[in-house]
Amino acid sequence: MRGRDILVPMPVTMDTLVSLCKRRGFIFQSSEIYGGTGSCYDYGPLGVELKQNIKRLLWRDFVQSRADMVGIDASILMHPTVWKASGHLDHFTDPMVDCRECKLRFRADDVDTLPWTHYCPATKGNKFTIPPGEPCSHCGARRTLCPDCGKGLLTAPRQFNLMFKTFMGPVEEDASVAYLRPETAQAMFVNFDNVLQSMRMKLPFGIAQAGRSFRNEITPGNFIFRTREFEQMEIEYFVNPRDTVEGRPADEYWHDRWIADCMAWFQRYGLREENLKLREHDKDELSHYSKRTVDIDYRFPIGWSELMGIANRTDFDLKQHAKFSGKSLTYFDEERKEHVVPYVVEPAMGVDRALLAFMADAYVEEEVRGEKRVVLRFHPELAPVKVAVLPLLKKRDEIVRRARAIRADLAKQWRVVYDDTAAIGRLYRRQDEVGTPYCVTVDVQTVGDSEKGEVGDGKVTIRDRDSMEQARVPIDALPAVFHDLLSGGVWAQVTARFERQIEK
Ligand code: GAP
Repeated sequence: MRGRDILVPMPVTMDTLVSLCKRRGFIFQSSEIYGGTGSCYDYGPLGVELKQNIKRLLWRDFVQSRADMVGIDASILMHPTVWKASGHLDHFTDPMVDCRECKLRFRADDVDTLPWTHYCPATKGNKFTIPPGEPCSHCGARRTLCPDCGKGLLTAPRQFNLMFKTFMGPVEEDASVAYLRPETAQAMFVNFDNVLQSMRMKLPFGIAQAGRSFRNEITPGNFIFRTREFEQMEIEYFVNPRDTVEGRPADEYWHDRWIADCMAWFQRYGLREENLKLREHDKDELSHYSKRTVDIDYRFPIGWSELMGIANRTDFDLKQHAKFSGKSLTYFDEERKEHVVPYVVEPAMGVDRALLAFMADAYVEEEVRGEKRVVLRFHPELAPVKVAVLPLLKKRDEIVRRARAIRADLAKQWRVVYDDTAAIGRLYRRQDEVGTPYCVTVDVQTVGDSEKGEVGDGKVTIRDRDSMEQARVPIDALPAVFHDLLSGGVWAQVTARFERQIEK
């Protein structure tokens, strides 16, 4: 593009994203005025739009548009036996160690990935902070004590359950213990028969749910990558284990199909292929329920990490819930005249992690005519704000009135904002920085000058975020033009019939 150089295509640093998120109303630290809550975040006005767009697209593409999918929205508080049956009470643990001196707690497998504090005997006990895994360059010692205080011995590893415990009802006793769900998945298993009977589903079919999950992570961090309260969108896709598809067992076929579909989904909404890869879980890493798990990893600012997982959970969950509830959770195979326990393939996505990936991938710094321009190149369907309507002169009542009327009209269909708090160049840059794909500018030409007896041309300038090209469009054509542009239309084609220009 003329006069433009990409300065920082990838990877953007986490600090840059955190600062942009706070400054522009995407994400704030939870309870910030009280010093923040450990690893919890609040989505601000733009963050909530972006997150809702992600969930809406997931739901549209994976549920609404498919005949083999339905959704549910279950309680976060479930019967405590659910977690016994699922294995979470026994297995959903991390090994942790405590410092006997300062009482800090660490994941046992994380201790040596942290910088460590050392009081070096070779330098009269001077205090040093040494990079993770490295020895002291003065005395050669390696870490044996608490990495944080450098003084206390660590306890032997103990298993720590990650579920948040609470109490149901007025009495805090063992009989009333309940848990905040650590995953959305279990509700699909316990509702399997309800959905099967009420919706007359035939295998293969899936049940989806999007909602909050809670994990008392010992080492949360990296902004919204790992938090204690987060949103998941999970699909439990039930298949008949006796069936074959294209000569392969149905569960294995569908597992690979879902991996491919999820990979394609992320790319469709903007994640670059080179920033995505598949990672097969080793046998010793598999969860207790899994026959095979493949993660989709993304090149986050912190490095390659899990974006989502797609597991073949076999018939583990349905069998467990049948055993613990005493209810039959089978499917009657009409052809074979037999009851089967379906296998399940589970695409499990973190909505917050997806949001972080979309932000990181969209972030670009460019140099335009000697000045830095920050752009979030969101896919239009993800962009929190679709159109910003900007008056060229805020002192001209007619311009302001017309701009506000255009906003109100377009806002019947999309999230559209009005802004007159700066000069036009700065208003454009502000919208670029939050990823607004299109701006509309109302100027003197649009409205004319009634004092001079001039009538306006009734046209406005619309501007494309990525190319910074502009086109002059009649106001009454705006809904149709934005409909085309926001549903995948290419700028050059949609605006070909209008007068075009480059941003000055
Ligand atoms: N039902 C299977 C399950 O929950 P998981 O790999 O533990 O599998 C699925 O979680 C996805 O949920 C992860 O790939 C990640 O995107 C998201 N996730 C898990 N723990 C998270 C946390 N503490 N903070 C943010 N997202 C998390």
